[in-house]
Amino acid sequence: MIMDMDWLDSIFELEKECFQTFYTLDMLKSCSESDSYQIFLFFLLDKQEKNMDKTLIFLVSHQGVQILNSKFLRKKQDINSLKFFSNDQKPFIIGYAIFLTLEDFSVELLRLGIRKILQNQGFGTYFLNKIIEYYFLERKNDKIFLEVSEENQKAIHLYKKLGFRNYAIRKKYYYHNQSSALCMVLEKKFYNLNQNK
Ligand SMILES: CC(C)(COP(=O)(O)OP(=O)(O)OC[C@H]1O[C@@H](n2cnc3c(N)ncnc32)[C@H](O)[C@@H]1OP(=O)(O)O)[C@@H](O)C(=O)NCCC(=O)NCCS
Repeated sequence: MIMDMDWLDSIFELEKECFQTFYTLDMLKSCSESDSYQIFLFFLLDKQEKNMDKTLIFLVSHQGVQILNSKFLRKKQDINSLKFFSNDQKPFIIGYAIFLTLEDFSVELLRLGIRKILQNQGFGTYFLNKIIEYYFLERKNDKIFLEVSEENQKAIHLYKKLGFRNYAIRKKYYYHNQSSALCMVLEKKFYNLNQNK
């Protein structure tokens, strides 16, 4: 089994750290078992070095694990066979993202979380950029949708910086605080695919 409970437990811990209303472990397990969802895990290889070059992004699915941000390791492979973690080096999960496949070459960003102590250091921007490149270049998707609370100014800033634009507002959408949801979309034709090179 590729997506074993340890990975799900780590995501669940991050969910509780990042969100007031969080996905349950059962919900996360369902996502991991469905081909419609894509789960991305963000790792820091060396806790002492908060450097984008020392990170890995795994896309975990039934088919295997794909590494998005490494030029030398882009093939799908079994997570257990990864050789670059020495036995005493446990990679540190610093964030995750969950996407849902929609119709017509579109996907929706459902969750994006970065460990609290590492927020505001550019990791969210870096990881989301790499995932956008993956969808637009490798999977040939042409639209990415998301919903975000109007109160989450940091996330809105990040999404706008990457080119997302508002297309609708859902009034009082979030039950827990009655805030409205901004519906945003990023279209491939408006995304500068060279901005992260
Ligand atoms: C939202 C989140 C994923 C962003 O990740 P991150 O690693 O902190 O983001 P970055 O450091 O790459 O970028 C944050 C940007 O927001 C800006 N920012 C920080 N606080 C802000 C605020 N209160 N209002 C507006 N902008 C803010 C930062 O200056 C930075 O912008 P810059 O790069 O132009 O200077 C992360 O904070 C998180 O996990 N939050 C909790 C979960 C969540 O809200 N997820 C998104 C909703 S699905």
